[in-house]
Amino acid sequence: MDTPWVKVGSAEELRPGQMKRVTAGGRRLLLCNADGTLHCVDEMCSHEDYSLHLGCIQEGRIKCSLHGSYFDLETGRPTVEPATEPIAVYPLRIEAGEVWVDPTNPIGSD
Ligand code: FES
Repeated sequence: MDTPWVKVGSAEELRPGQMKRVTAGGRRLLLCNADGTLHCVDEMCSHEDYSLHLGCIQEGRIKCSLHGSYFDLETGRPTVEPATEPIAVYPLRIEAGEVWVDPTNPIGSD
């Protein structure tokens, strides 16, 4: 049976504050460790087409290094302008030390 879940890495490979690019379901995503909790979000900023991989993770948020917007890693919502649109957040689960993401089912921000 087909499953949308894609293995994107190991639960131990990222330390707090680290992130890595992954591809799942044809999407470019970021796997992020925010204070020990893993999140999976769109790689690209919603403001302009710029990689959030070039930013940093602070206090549960990811910062875009181009214009300084922050996005909440739980909801994808921008918490600092200029971005006003959320980034997509994807369901993630950890099984036997492996990280799995469902790229077909982004979590709504409402
Ligand atoms: S491109 Fe990210 S805030 Fe402008």
